[in-house]
Amino acid sequence: MTLPIPKSRRSFSDFLLHLHPSAVPESTLKFTLSWGLGGMAATLIGLLFSTGVLLLLVYEPSADRAYSSILTLTQETPFGLWIRNIHHWSANFLIGVILLHMIRVVLTGAFGSGRSLNWVIGLCLLLFVLGANFTGYLLPWDQLAYWAVTICTSMLGYIPLFGSWLQDLFRGGAEVGPPTLANFFVLHVAVIPGSVIILLLWHFWLVRRAGGLVRPEDAIPDAVSNRVPTIPNLIVREAAVGMIVIAFVMILAIFLNAPLLEQANPGMSPLSAKAPWYFLGFQELLLHLHPVFAVLVWPLLGVAVLVWLPFWQAAALPPGIWLGSARGRRLALWTAVGTVLVTFLVVVADDLLLRSMSNITANTLVTRGLIPTLLMIGLLIGFYFLLSAKLKYTRAEAVMAGVILVLVALAVCTIIGFWFRGAEMLLTWPFVQNGT
Ligand code: HEM
Repeated sequence: MTLPIPKSRRSFSDFLLHLHPSAVPESTLKFTLSWGLGGMAATLIGLLFSTGVLLLLVYEPSADRAYSSILTLTQETPFGLWIRNIHHWSANFLIGVILLHMIRVVLTGAFGSGRSLNWVIGLCLLLFVLGANFTGYLLPWDQLAYWAVTICTSMLGYIPLFGSWLQDLFRGGAEVGPPTLANFFVLHVAVIPGSVIILLLWHFWLVRRAGGLVRPEDAIPDAVSNRVPTIPNLIVREAAVGMIVIAFVMILAIFLNAPLLEQANPGMSPLSAKAPWYFLGFQELLLHLHPVFAVLVWPLLGVAVLVWLPFWQAAALPPGIWLGSARGRRLALWTAVGTVLVTFLVVVADDLLLRSMSNITANTLVTRGLIPTLLMIGLLIGFYFLLSAKLKYTRAEAVMAGVILVLVALAVCTIIGFWFRGAEMLLTWPFVQNGT
């Protein structure tokens, strides 16, 4: 005799089955297919929403009260410091986890085969999550926040024609000030979270509509996947990943405090004001390229390629197989290693040699904009044809190597910006104060 399932448990199961089909292909349960990264991102978003609501009980969004309300929160409110730390670390990990999730989608060929729209929704989610992090950065109204936001919004000013209009729009005036805080607060607590919820539901529904995660059987016409019930097989795995993420962030937040410097002082700029870490790659580009190319042309080219990628038939690797083949895995490794070395060399050479030659340092559109851009495009196209035509890699493997090249170069620029730039953005060794 089977016992009836209690009503409360049945409605919980029904809710879960709105997000998932009742059975999923067994092959998609393998942890190393997705590394649970999408689920980790969803868990972090859950943590951000729940701690964000608690922070709102104490935080005051006005320029003269914001900083003191953060002090009240962290010094006088029970668990206030811990809740703030959880919010801070979840937000930062979320960016890292989303980028890894995106990389896994590329490297397992999961943006083709009926998943192109979901890739584009994912890109929008990435944009909103970056926006949420950036707008949240200003809210404590301390020196770190004030000057990082000043740096980033002043980058907008380099955009030709409507750059200064855009800058004023974000700032709510000519300088970062009380109206900027008001703008960022509304974006951070209402506009962005609302948009993220809608996009996330759409994202999950599209995964469901595609029949679950990408898998090797997708490449075989009429292949039938062995399906197993979602509850408990998938749900137990998702719950385990979620609980590990929550425990990890909660424990880390006991020991590592979110940064808070002195109250914002518009009259005193620190020696080397840096953008938040996720924009440091672009700040590094600004040191080497003409600003119009660093803040407009290169990012626009990058976004255009990312949006176009799923609609390029030959660009997706065989579904569900990491890096396509053993040969593809070796190619990826060598591309990554080569890109790390070359990017470090180019940055150091540009800083130490070219900058001392005045005719080259002249920050002109041609020498610091057009020429490096054409060189970069030529390098990528040459690399693609070398791999696909001469070395007989598949076109998808050649595209994958190009994507790895760009991502690793951006990661190296971010690392250089974070650890190897000291006072006045000069190159230095990590943890040395004023070296060159
Ligand atoms: C807030 C950020 C995001 C969350 C919470 C999220 C969540 C998820 C989840 C839970 C899945 C299914 C399980 C998994 O793949 O681990 C998934 C799949 C997918 N995601 Fe995301 N995602 C986010 C951002 C992105 C981004 C930035 C992209 C790419 C630009 C992306 C593209 C995709 C695609 C194409 C799939 C289907 C993969 C497949 O079928 O194997 N997602 N996402």
